[in-house]
Amino acid sequence: MSVSANPNPQAPAIEGSPTRLPQHVAFIMDGNGRWATERGLPRTEGHRQGLEALRTAIRHAGDVGVKIVTIYSFSSENWNRPASEVSFLMGLLKRFVQRDLSELHKANVRIRIIGGRSDLEPGILALLEEAEDVTRGNTGLDLVVAFNYGSRSEIVRTAQHLAQQVADGKLRVEEISEDAFSRNLDTGGLPDPDLIIRTSGEMRLSNFLLWQAAYSEFYFCDVNWPDFDEAAFDEALQCFGNRERRYGGLDAKAL
Ligand code: FPP
Repeated sequence: MSVSANPNPQAPAIEGSPTRLPQHVAFIMDGNGRWATERGLPRTEGHRQGLEALRTAIRHAGDVGVKIVTIYSFSSENWNRPASEVSFLMGLLKRFVQRDLSELHKANVRIRIIGGRSDLEPGILALLEEAEDVTRGNTGLDLVVAFNYGSRSEIVRTAQHLAQQVADGKLRVEEISEDAFSRNLDTGGLPDPDLIIRTSGEMRLSNFLLWQAAYSEFYFCDVNWPDFDEAAFDEALQCFGNRERRYGGLDAKAL
């Protein structure tokens, strides 16, 4: 897929429908714990059901023609959760890669990991890198997995990398542009998200894609992530289709 670091000013229209479809949708999959607690279940059951909802969302994205899905699967701050929950989430990620990788590969999905890698447990890192390697040549949906991801830390890593290049005489200070910075982020080469969806009624970014979200549309809904089904996804897409994106300019009628 040919992609640029710039926002996507004209998302493609959904065929036979008046709405426009986002090319890149990012999910903050929130509310797993509350979903479980409301049912008198352990929080881990919410994560397990959350994985089912994730499978549904990926499948539906492909079906409707979304090109890129980014998921906030584990933030750099999530390590602060109780050790038992962290360990469950690690197990879930392992199972997701081990069980779903061949199916995702068959479905032509290309997996890409964003987030800090240097401090990851070698077993997890190897698994994530295997998922990237196996699917690298695929040309269907891009699935971007934000794992051990924090946006501020990504920005700092990028600044350090560019500073090092300047120190090594490989880059001139004047060459540090918005485009150069975007290219060097973990998401380099991907277009920015058109639509960011957060479930469970919380209305914040929680250190997710701070740079990339400059012109994203936001959609917040009350359903907890395990209940986010095709209909809820369609509602978000419909809402996006009715938004007017101006990128700091004026709408055509005002000119
Ligand atoms: C937020 O809900 C969710 C997470 C921190 C983890 C998201 C994980 C999944 C959707 C399952 C798939 C996982 C992987 C690793 C592929 P929360 O626990 O903050 O819920 P709460 O706000 O109700 O407590």
